Amino acid sequence: MSYTYFMPTRIAWGVGALDGIGAAARGLGLGRVLVVTDPAIAAQPFFAAALDSLREAGVAVALFEECGIDARLSHIDAQAARCRSEGVAGVVCIGGGSVMCTGKGVAIVAANGTSLREHLGAGNFERPALPMIMVPTTAGSGSEVSQYTIVKDEERHLKLLAGGPLSFPAVAILDPCVLASLPRGAAVMSAVDALTHAIEAYFTDLATPLTDALALEAASLQAGSMRASILDGDAEARARNLMASAMSNIACGNARLSHAHALSLPLEGHLDLAHPFGVGTLVPWTMAFNAEAAPEKGRRLAGALGADIRGLTDAEAVAAGQDALFRLYDDLGFPRHLGPDQLPAERVGEMARLAVPGLYAPRTPEHVDASTPIAAPAVRTMTVADAVGIYERCFGR
Ligand SMILES: [Fe+2]
Repeated sequence: MSYTYFMPTRIAWGVGALDGIGAAARGLGLGRVLVVTDPAIAAQPFFAAALDSLREAGVAVALFEECGIDARLSHIDAQAARCRSEGVAGVVCIGGGSVMCTGKGVAIVAANGTSLREHLGAGNFERPALPMIMVPTTAGSGSEVSQYTIVKDEERHLKLLAGGPLSFPAVAILDPCVLASLPRGAAVMSAVDALTHAIEAYFTDLATPLTDALALEAASLQAGSMRASILDGDAEARARNLMASAMSNIACGNARLSHAHALSLPLEGHLDLAHPFGVGTLVPWTMAFNAEAAPEKGRRLAGALGADIRGLTDAEAVAAGQDALFRLYDDLGFPRHLGPDQLPAERVGEMARLAVPGLYAPRTPEHVDASTPIAAPAVRTMTVADAVGIYERCFGR
């Protein structure tokens, strides 16, 4: 096999990086931008300062401040139409994953058509998205360095993926000042999601030494700094969290995501489970499942997650890695398991069948049975029957 690695986003990292947002927009030649955010971020002093920086640089600003928990198809299509009618040249996203996914969807549709529905899947559009500047306010989804957007279709209760090499953000600004106002619950959820991106990328069959280096260091950096960043508000730890979440997403942007995200998708679409609860409770088990096909990697990852693996067999090391992950969850108040209200026992089989198309090929095969594989670029094939077992473990059974 041959592999490619691509990541064209310029990253500005560190205290004060956000001050440069006006210059960054000017540097991209943007005279008018759509700034996308949510109501909570819109009220923050750093948001006002970012708008001042843009205006002082001579960049006109149109605002969309109504993002919610998920990026919504209806928001994207409406704002893309607005961009075309108002002559918007670029999109600035200041917010978490749903804000950045909304803005990325807008940037794709504004340049290519009338609805994101026409561009679902990987690489399904022809013209470059409008230039994007991303300021993640969580650490995080990693959407600031990702070509993909994950969007909720409210009418059909589906989570959908779109994006391609033409929808990488131009600039990502990682400034730890934005994390100071982030509520603890949201900080935990986004950091756990980021950690799953590193773990997932490490166990795909598209992983390379380049993505492994990013994934392993990101897992170590994230797991090692989450307590100090989130529980103690340590500024240096916050900066490391932001870098780790970006690194995780650069890794999975090239090596892709795997079983935890594939199995979480139907829970999010059909049961309205928040993404981090799905992937966070699934990943200890999908990690162990895949480590059986890559024991040396399982061992190294366990060490990166903070487990003491000296003298342990590979299987014991993976179990120690799971344990390190669970202890991290406990300290941060993140659940080890899903409850029956989040994943009803009688719907487990249905969820496993719905997970078959995976993240990257949104089509269900005509016939699905217990032996049908879940579509995922993983080191080990997972069948529908295996997926049922993984969901059961999420219950703690
Ligand atoms: Fe994720």
